[in-house]
Amino acid sequence: MSCQRQLKILDHPLIQHKLTLMRSVETPSHSFRRLLKEITILMSYEVFSDLPLQNIHTTTPMQSMESPVLSENTVCLVPIMRAGNGMLDGFIEIVSNALVGHIGLYRNKETLKAHDYYINLPKAIDVGKTVVLDPMLATGNSANTAISIIKKHGANDIVFTSILAAPEGVEAIEQKHPDVPIYTCSLDERLNENGYIIPGLGDAGDRLYGTT
Ligand code: URA
Repeated sequence: MSCQRQLKILDHPLIQHKLTLMRSVETPSHSFRRLLKEITILMSYEVFSDLPLQNIHTTTPMQSMESPVLSENTVCLVPIMRAGNGMLDGFIEIVSNALVGHIGLYRNKETLKAHDYYINLPKAIDVGKTVVLDPMLATGNSANTAISIIKKHGANDIVFTSILAAPEGVEAIEQKHPDVPIYTCSLDERLNENGYIIPGLGDAGDRLYGTT
C-alpha cells in the first residue's frame, strides 16, 4: 500500500490486475460486477486492519482458550446509490455482522453538485467505524455531501472507499473533511469537462447495471 497524506492507494498486484480488466470497454456488466466484488473483498484487508477485537471463550478439539472476535456494531457500511451498491457485496461477505445504511444522491449535470433523495442510516452508526462506498471519487461533491450527512447522524470514525479517484476529488475531501482517510485503488489523471474521471472506466452505475 502506498500512502500520501490521508490517501491510501491499494496497489496490491491482484487489485491492479482486476482493475485493468474493469477499465476495459470490452468487459461486460456481469464480469464488471464480479470484478468489483472481488476487488472490494481484497480492499477489506486494509480498510479493516484496525478493527477492535474482544476475547471470547472457545473450546478447540484440544482445550479451552480465550480467542479474539470482532465486537458487535463495529462496522457500518454506507453505499452511495446507485454505484456504491456494487461495493457492498464484497465488504459484507468479509464483515457479515456489519450494519448497512444507504444514501441516495444524484448529481446535477450542469453544476455537478450532489443532491440527496434518500437517507436511511442505522441508529448505532455512532458506535464503530463507518465506511462510505462509492467506486468513483470524481469531483468529491457526492463524497463530501455523504460524509456531512453521516457526521450529522453522529458518526465520528469515517473512512471513504473508492475504486478510482481523481486528484480533484481527493483534494475536495481533504479540504472539507481532513479527518476522513481515503482508500482507493488508483489515483487517475484528471476530470474531464463533464466531471468524468480520465482515463477512468466510464460511468460505474451504467457499467454495473447495463444501462446507458
Ligand atoms: N461517476 C462515474 O460513474 N464515472 C466517472 O468517471 C465519474 C463519476
